[in-house]
Amino acid sequence: MSEFGRRSLVVTGIGELTVNDPQAVDNNSTPEPFSNAAFAVQDGRIAWIGLAVDAPAADEVLDVAGRAVIPGFVDSHAHLVFAGDRAAEFAARMTGTPYSAGGIRTTVAATRAADDEQLRANVRRLVHEMARQGTTTVECKTGYGLTLEDELRALRIAKDECDVATFLGAHVVPAEYADRRAEYVDLVCGPMLDACAEYADYVDVFCERGAYDEAETRLILDAAKAHGIPVRLHANQLGHGPGVRLAVEYGAASADHCTYLEAADIDALAGSETVATLLPAVEFSTRSRYPDARSLLDAGASVAIATDCNPGSCYTSSMPFCIALAVREMRMSPGEALRAATLGGAKALRRTDIGHLAVGARADFAVLDAPSYLHLAYRPGVPLIHSVWKNGRKSV
Ligand code: NIG
Ligand code: FE
Repeated sequence: MSEFGRRSLVVTGIGELTVNDPQAVDNNSTPEPFSNAAFAVQDGRIAWIGLAVDAPAADEVLDVAGRAVIPGFVDSHAHLVFAGDRAAEFAARMTGTPYSAGGIRTTVAATRAADDEQLRANVRRLVHEMARQGTTTVECKTGYGLTLEDELRALRIAKDECDVATFLGAHVVPAEYADRRAEYVDLVCGPMLDACAEYADYVDVFCERGAYDEAETRLILDAAKAHGIPVRLHANQLGHGPGVRLAVEYGAASADHCTYLEAADIDALAGSETVATLLPAVEFSTRSRYPDARSLLDAGASVAIATDCNPGSCYTSSMPFCIALAVREMRMSPGEALRAATLGGAKALRRTDIGHLAVGARADFAVLDAPSYLHLAYRPGVPLIHSVWKNGRKSV
């Protein structure tokens, strides 16, 4: 038995360790990786971090042979409960058809027609695909059911298969309610939320032209509040609008997309606890302008990066790809991008136990087939994940 008791693990031989100190003075400051480090894991948590020469004895030693180690990615925005795909819509978009929220209804029809096991298997497949790319925490939204029964089953599957489950009954207004929108909003705020409340970690609304307007969004956010469920918002994706300011007003954990921001939106985010979650693979996949990450960072807003994995606007599950886009297209430094994809995501989910490596934090980490995290953006498209550990257990 070692000094850490049974099943302890020491990770050593680390070429470069990024821990992401959440206490760093600047919210978005660049991580300072260190060398010659080692850490110990006990009962799924980090039990010790220090110089390799001082490492305690352990039952198991993992020598990563000079590779870089980073906290596992926290993908704080994904829509995984769906059936079918929209590859044809993507192809049309690449030859000139603009993206609109209306395509969501195609996936709603396919999702309603699928059985529970098909939906669950698809979520599992995508969560595994994410893990292979270094992701250790996944948030998953509903939003392709849009009936009480279909939303409830989607939320239960999300809750079973993912780390954080978000109720997005207000994704779009389903076709059968097109002429009676107010009735659908009443359904979301009343019976749907009543049924879903016990499984919902968050309530989300797609506040956008073509989806829900300000008044409708307020009704749904008020209903979430009445149930005591925290909120997050899809905001300012397709154009300027009230989404970001509503997110801040309601104390949302995050305002997601933030593609079209005015100065007042940036000021509001910078003066709040609401994280600006940027989803640059959506801009890539819809051939849109990228969010102004620099202004957000320079104003002091907290920034997260996530995939938005979904069959319509963005069908990637790769956080390394999003990091590469953030660096190349949004002028984030590689360090800012890594921090946003780990600690930023944790903050967007209001979690303090993930996104960083410190004594007491969850032992969620990725070993890179590279000497430094810089390679994540420097070598785009290259599979650089060597192995992934979640709760101190090897997941990939
Ligand atoms: O975050 N914006 C709303 N929802 C998704 C897209 C969903 C879809 O097109 O199927 C998004 O981009
Ligand atoms: Fe989304």
